[in-house]
Amino acid sequence: QMRNRLNALTDTVKDPNEKKRFETEMDNFFALFRRYLNDKAKGSVLDWNRIAPPQPGQVVEYSDLANSEAVDYLNKLAVVKLNGGLGTSMGCVGPKSVIEVRDGMSFLDLSVRQIEYLNRTYNVNVPFVLMNSFNTDADTANIIKKYEGHNIDILTFNQSKYPRVLKDSLLPVPQSADSPISDWYPPGHGDVFESLYNSGILDQLIDRGIEIIFLSNADNLGAVVDLRILQHMVDAKAEYIMELTDKTKADVKGGTIINYEGSVRLLEIAQVPKEHVNEFKSIKKFKYFNTNNIWLNLRAIKRVVENNELAMEIIPNAKSIPADKKGEADISVIQLETAVGAAIRHFKNACGVNVPRRRFLPVKTCSDLMLVKSDLYTLQHGQLVIDPNRFGPAPLIKLGSDFKKVSSFQARIPSIPKIVELDHLTITGAVNLGRNVTLKGTVIIVATEGQTIDIPPGSILENVVVQGSLRL
Ligand code: UTP
Repeated sequence: QMRNRLNALTDTVKDPNEKKRFETEMDNFFALFRRYLNDKAKGSVLDWNRIAPPQPGQVVEYSDLANSEAVDYLNKLAVVKLNGGLGTSMGCVGPKSVIEVRDGMSFLDLSVRQIEYLNRTYNVNVPFVLMNSFNTDADTANIIKKYEGHNIDILTFNQSKYPRVLKDSLLPVPQSADSPISDWYPPGHGDVFESLYNSGILDQLIDRGIEIIFLSNADNLGAVVDLRILQHMVDAKAEYIMELTDKTKADVKGGTIINYEGSVRLLEIAQVPKEHVNEFKSIKKFKYFNTNNIWLNLRAIKRVVENNELAMEIIPNAKSIPADKKGEADISVIQLETAVGAAIRHFKNACGVNVPRRRFLPVKTCSDLMLVKSDLYTLQHGQLVIDPNRFGPAPLIKLGSDFKKVSSFQARIPSIPKIVELDHLTITGAVNLGRNVTLKGTVIIVATEGQTIDIPPGSILENVVVQGSLRL
């Protein structure tokens, strides 16, 4: 039935070229859907008893890599940013990458600065490639227009647009190819392989002499090109390198690398049986997590796509589409997604590199945003560099739900406090910070329901709990 409905969707496309493209997309979706049904019938595919921490050769320490100036290989490199996601979780409309991070510059602007600096320093022309989705394409095109005159090649391609599926009947939601966008979804960053291929960008890069791509999340400001890892990619003839970093108690949920009967795989928390979740979270047994900074050999991508070898674990994501009419129930749907990290097992000589934490600087919440905007970092050619006077890891910042949206964060904290000596900050409730505030040690500010706390300009708070007018 699904096949018939997808054929019917294809029939609604009039333009012959567009029809062909759409048909391929629906075929790829159908393969994913079929695999989902098969997996569901089979139950869990991973046997916990066969899962072991990676063997020494499967994860290499960054500090053990040769200190290289692999400049020659830079001519064979392209940088890809995963840019299909929206800024909804931070209360923004439009692509997440256009959120202003620092000095009036967005994630995108900072990435462009990083590449421009790389190209200038080594006199190379590393192209900057963006994987957009139908959600981010138009806004991104508008923003990158300003780089037209610049000395940087920016290429873009769109990832797939798959039909959402009704939860109960497992039939596609859209009725025709031009159904509203809420009927469709971008199927996760694991889609990068097929989309690179189908868009023609993969061949375009190969024709340009590119052999390796370095891809990362658009919001990871620490994901700069690293010559040591590039060199290792070449020396180890690795088709795939996943950058991992040491797990701390704050990131126990991240995907980890495992040894499964001699081959490296990614293990996500969603795949772990309930009774083993604590073991999965253990910092001792599984020491690293995936940063989603991934190095890939382009010809290997071409091979695995052409041979239909990719079978990444499917992540079913439950969503609901708001009802058309008042009084009607929302529609429960699922969307089948895949993650780029799960593809590690399909590539030869794949390995992990355990990198310093500085290569993982993601901005998922306004707490992260506060950190990267603060005096803890300085901006150098688009890269955030931590203050050398900082002792120990970055502070733990927990801003409550009143700071969920970027707009409310900006309204409540219009000027970022000084935090070089801060270890831990928790703010809950309606709290406003004045200008030039300094926070040191552990600071907890709690406004109870119906109460507002205004921290006066110039305050210095050190190891203090502020509750209403009460200071302990
Ligand atoms: P996610 O939304 O998946 O972030 O986007 P996350 O929750 O940190 O998840 P993981 O653990 O990395 O999966 C990560 C990056 O992937 C892009 C986003 O734009 C972001 O840069 N992305 C996500 C896509 O390009 N396409 C998608 O379909 C999903």
